[in-house]
Amino acid sequence: MTAHAANDIVARAVEVLKENDQGTYTIPTKGLYPFQWNWDSCLTALGLAHYDEARAWTEIETLFAHQWPDGMVPHIVFHVWNDSYFPGPEVWRTGRPTATSGITQPAVAGFAVRRLFDRAKDRKLAAERARALLPKIDAWHRWFYENRDPKGEGLVAIIHPWESGRDNSIDWDDAFERVPTEGVEPYTRRDTLHADPAHRPTKAQYDRYLWLVQHFRGLGWDNAKLHDASPFQIVDPGFNAILIRAATDLADLAEALGETAIAKANRARAQKGLAAMERLWSDAHGQYLCLDRVAGTLVDSASVGGILPAFAAIPKDRAAAVAANLERLSGTARYVVPSHDPGDRRFDAKRYWRGPVWLVVNYMIADGLAAAGHGQVAQRITQSSLDLIRESGFAEYYDPLTGEPLGGGRFTWTAAMVIEFLRDAQVGGA
Ligand code: DGY
Repeated sequence: MTAHAANDIVARAVEVLKENDQGTYTIPTKGLYPFQWNWDSCLTALGLAHYDEARAWTEIETLFAHQWPDGMVPHIVFHVWNDSYFPGPEVWRTGRPTATSGITQPAVAGFAVRRLFDRAKDRKLAAERARALLPKIDAWHRWFYENRDPKGEGLVAIIHPWESGRDNSIDWDDAFERVPTEGVEPYTRRDTLHADPAHRPTKAQYDRYLWLVQHFRGLGWDNAKLHDASPFQIVDPGFNAILIRAATDLADLAEALGETAIAKANRARAQKGLAAMERLWSDAHGQYLCLDRVAGTLVDSASVGGILPAFAAIPKDRAAAVAANLERLSGTARYVVPSHDPGDRRFDAKRYWRGPVWLVVNYMIADGLAAAGHGQVAQRITQSSLDLIRESGFAEYYDPLTGEPLGGGRFTWTAAMVIEFLRDAQVGGA
């Protein structure tokens, strides 16, 4: 790609970020997602920093201003009234001063804050803002291990598919059989007004998403009770790897800022988590698998959740096997990384997390593989991501076989990731 073409893409990405910017937080996209989402915001901050470092810090601070007293950081903050989204605050009823959801999302904040800090041109500003966020992110990490790893195994469970961010992954299909639908209050979905229903989760899945929300609400959103009371407890390798990477990054950042207790606690979490991840490894698939904590078995489902651990400092032989698996996947899909193995009969190229490519996941996998010395595979992921942008614009996700843009349009985190990819890529040549 020429420097001119790259500059043009960055300019268009900045336009997307600006049009979704609400002043102190950024919405993922208009219509479909009109509030602040947790991991969207943290990754978006990296794109914002490209043109406004102070604004990037504000993005993450706004999210943490709505952290719960127990340390949890909710997955949605409903800053304003807007009925284009369901389920809104009247369904969650979490009783927070500013309405929020009652579940969490992948813990990318520690990673994002470290990256903002490392790259900051304004060192004084970065030190001040990072120092203030450190104890908050540390409290969130502590919350995870206290509430989602009650037996101290070193790995945390999600209790709702929305927590993973990979809402309708094939990984959850078997566990979802245990989630009943009796008593789900009548509801009208709004997502299917903004995106093609064939690209979104099904009604059967929505019924179960809502049953879980109602069940947790009935328990007063008391996190001391929710894990054990949930029929859905999944140890997702990707989710854990993000937390482990964030703990390592937070530890490094804390050391740089002289906060040794925070550094020590997060280093220990990361070490224990990395050792425990070995239980999730599958030689047969050449990647990690989810563990269904209720059934006590690994889930036979080769999703991108088991490739995402490349983002953390997994052992060298595991990273090499994941890289080899990705080479194989590049032979089955025109664009990598598909969110599910196209060789699996359950793969669906267009339906949300059952096949499509997502640029945020590409970014994390490429980052980890490059650090582990698999630069060529990382480069292939970057190239696929840039090809998708050039050919199909800033979509929410893409068909890995055709590159067709899917889901919401003009998507904030896609734009932020493109800026990141171009920042890292060697721009030059024809
Ligand atoms: C949705 O509503 O689609 C979200 O993914 C839940 O966070």
